[in-house]
Amino acid sequence: MLREAWENEWLRLRDTAAQEVERVPTPDELESLRVALLGRGGRLTLLLKSLKDLSLEDRRAFGPAANGLKESLERAVGARQASFAARRLEGELAGTRVDLTLPGDAPGRGSLHPLTLVCSEIAGILSGLGFTWAEGPHVETERNNFESLNFPADHPAKDMHDTFYLRTSGLPLLLRTHTSPVQVRALEAARPPAPLRIMAPGRVFRHENADASHSSVFHQIEGLCVDKGVSFADLKSTLRLFLEGLFGPGTRLRLRPSFFPFTEPSAQVDVSCILCSGQGRLPAASGGGTSSPDGSVGCAVCKKLGWLEILGAGMVHPNVLRAAGYDPEVWSGYAWGLGVERIAMLKYRISDIRLFYQNDLRFLEQFK
Ligand code: PHE
Repeated sequence: MLREAWENEWLRLRDTAAQEVERVPTPDELESLRVALLGRGGRLTLLLKSLKDLSLEDRRAFGPAANGLKESLERAVGARQASFAARRLEGELAGTRVDLTLPGDAPGRGSLHPLTLVCSEIAGILSGLGFTWAEGPHVETERNNFESLNFPADHPAKDMHDTFYLRTSGLPLLLRTHTSPVQVRALEAARPPAPLRIMAPGRVFRHENADASHSSVFHQIEGLCVDKGVSFADLKSTLRLFLEGLFGPGTRLRLRPSFFPFTEPSAQVDVSCILCSGQGRLPAASGGGTSSPDGSVGCAVCKKLGWLEILGAGMVHPNVLRAAGYDPEVWSGYAWGLGVERIAMLKYRISDIRLFYQNDLRFLEQFK
C-alpha cells in the first residue's frame, strides 16, 4: 500500500471511529461496527497489518499511534457494551413488580439428636440427685481404663480383639472402652480425698462388628458416689429414684448378682418392662408378638420376660479406692454404668442401633 493511501485511511479512522462507537444506537449495530473495525477483516486490523509495507521511518511514526487507537477503540466498545447491558437490566427491573411482603424460604430447623435428648434427660434427673457433670478424654491410658480399675493383666477385655489400641512408642494408649476411667480421674483429682458425686456421660469404643444391636462407637453414662459410710442400700435407693425418674413411677427394680473387676459386690440391674409393665404379655389388640389361647400376645420388648436389663452397678472395689489414694477403711462408694443407646432404643422403640449414626433426616425428624 502506498504511504499516502495508508495515511488517508489512518486519518479517517482516527477522526471518526471513536465517535461512531459512541453514537451507535443498538447493541446489534455495535457488534457489526466492532467487526467492521476490529474484526479479523476489520478496517483497523487491515491497516495495522499493512504497516509492514511502509518504510521503517513511517512505521516508527505511525505504528505506536495506530496500536494505541486499537486499544482505545477496544476499550470504548467494551464500555458501550456494558452501558447497553446496564440499560437493559434497568428496563427489566422497571417492568418487574417485587412483592416484598411475600414470605421467604424459611431455613430448615434442626433438632436435638435422640441420644442427646436421652442424655440430657438422664443428666437432669441425676443433677436433681446431687450428681455433677464430669468428662474424660476418648483417648485413655491403659492404666485409667483397666489397671486402676482393678482389671487383672490377663483380662479378656484388654485383648486387641476387644479394644482399639493406639500405636504409641511410650505409654500404652487406647480408645476408652467404657466411661469408668472417669471414676479414676475424678477420684485422683480430689486431693485430699473428699466426698464425690459425679455423672460422666460420653462416647466409648469397642472392637465390634456392627449389627442391629452392636456398634463400635456408642455412649455410656457413668455414676459415681464416694463418701464416708456409703452402703449398698444407698446404691439401691439412688438407682430406684433415678430409674423411676427415667421410666416413670411404678417402675420396679431387680438386682441380680454380677461381676465387674472394679465393683464388689456387683449387680446387674433390671427394670420392669416399660411396655408390658412387667407382665411379659399384652392384651391382643396391642399387637407385636406371638398370640396365645387367652388372646394375649407375648411382649416383644422384653421377649416375654417382664424385665429389661438396664445397667451394671456395684460398690466401688477397695483396690480402686486405694489406687486413687482413698483409704477403703474410711471411704466407700457405689458406681454404675449404662448404655445411652439402649435406653433410647427402649424409650423410642427403635429396633436398629445403626439408625442413630446414619444421619437420615427421615429418622431424626421424628424427634423434633
Ligand atoms: N463399665 C461397665 C461396662 O462398661 C459398667 C459399670 C460401670 C459397671 C460402673 C459397674 C459400675 O460394662
